[in-house]
Amino acid sequence: MSWSRLVPTKKGTVGSVAIAPSLLSADFSRLGEEVRAVEKAGADLLHLDVMDGHFVPNLTFGPMLIKAVRKLTDLPLDTHLMIENPEKYIRQFAKAGSDIITIHIEASADIRRDLRMIREIGKNAGLTLNPDTPLEKITEYFDDIDLILVMSVFPGFAGQSFMPEVLSKVEQAKELRKVKGLDIAIEIDGGIDPETSKQARAAGVDIMVAGSAIFGSSDYKDTIHKLRG
Ligand code: DX5
Ligand code: ZN
Repeated sequence: MSWSRLVPTKKGTVGSVAIAPSLLSADFSRLGEEVRAVEKAGADLLHLDVMDGHFVPNLTFGPMLIKAVRKLTDLPLDTHLMIENPEKYIRQFAKAGSDIITIHIEASADIRRDLRMIREIGKNAGLTLNPDTPLEKITEYFDDIDLILVMSVFPGFAGQSFMPEVLSKVEQAKELRKVKGLDIAIEIDGGIDPETSKQARAAGVDIMVAGSAIFGSSDYKDTIHKLRG
């Protein structure tokens, strides 16, 4: 599968979805243990939710934390920037050790410039869209991206309910990727648990983000196994 270049553990694997635990729901007082635990439980990448209190009504962490996590694991770091003016910080997140840097179509003043900046510094560029933003808004950027992140909740908080109506965008993106012959991963984020993951898998996502479903469970390995289906 072409998207597997973003996820080394998936090289040569066909038909299996990659799992990206969102550290937002981890116990930050035991961050090292949590990172090692999800790695051992079979995580394929780590999802890092950066929030600025402007683009979304919540604040989380910045490059310092990504730098710390970088020291804890070799898993790809999938950095989801929910911030305005991402161009000011892209270099810092790259330097801190992010492998994928994803920006919001709704938050950047010059999408193409920002996506190209990410690629020029040797990172994979992701573009994401809120549940009420149509896929048409991002299709003109397909040549400049490595990953599409389809939000299945409004960004800002972990533990919200999955919005199945966004799945048509996953199907649309898959179709367009095929027609255009592009090597783009399709990721979904928000409200993914063992139940809702069935719908996401059926729609054809490549990567699933899951925060509270994994870190809120007593057995990370079993939960990741169930998410994979
Ligand atoms: C939402 C974040 C998500 C969130 C996922 O703003 O982008 O990555 O942490 O958490 P769950 O899986 O609990 O919905
Ligand atoms: Zn996220």
